[in-house]
Amino acid sequence: MALDLTKYVASVPDYPEPGIIFRDISPLMADGEAYREATDQIVKFARDKKVDMIVGPEARGFIVGCPVAYELGIGFAPARKKGKLPRPTVKATYDLEYGQSALYLHKDAIKPGQNVLVTDDLLATGGTISATIQLVEELGGNVVGTAFLVELKDLHGRDKIKDYDILSLMEF
Ligand code: PRP
Ligand code: MG
Repeated sequence: MALDLTKYVASVPDYPEPGIIFRDISPLMADGEAYREATDQIVKFARDKKVDMIVGPEARGFIVGCPVAYELGIGFAPARKKGKLPRPTVKATYDLEYGQSALYLHKDAIKPGQNVLVTDDLLATGGTISATIQLVEELGGNVVGTAFLVELKDLHGRDKIKDYDILSLMEF
């Protein structure tokens, strides 16, 4: 029987501010069996989608996407925060609670027509994943799915990406 992955997510009340429960995936990553189980579930989701590349947003999207790319024998491209990528980039902005942030992707990270799986640890408001999808599509990539360890249902991030196939391994 599959592991109950929710046992490997630490729920931290009042972090980073009062009233917020932080869902910390560190225990899942720290446990080889749980990390492998989560990765295997995403690999299974990806296999029949003919994925050519995986893209994940800095920083926790790397943790989820890289082992999946390794297992599938395909590449991984990081969507990074400002000032981190040294060559020409495309940029997408997204809303934070206060103000805006931006993600960048190297212009040659995706070839037009490639099938891309976008990964992250958490689907909250959906801002981060929407910006990542926008970057991939601006380069002509075809987003064939999105995969998350955790989805926070109350924040309705799913509504922002309803045109895409979504896998979330756990819901809170
Ligand atoms: C967190 C999390 C997701 C994002 C989800 O990243 O890792 O990427 O927030 O929130 P959203 O759906 O409302 O956009 P954060 O920006 O804290 O950065 P990190 O991954 O570098 O820790
Ligand atoms: Mg993140």
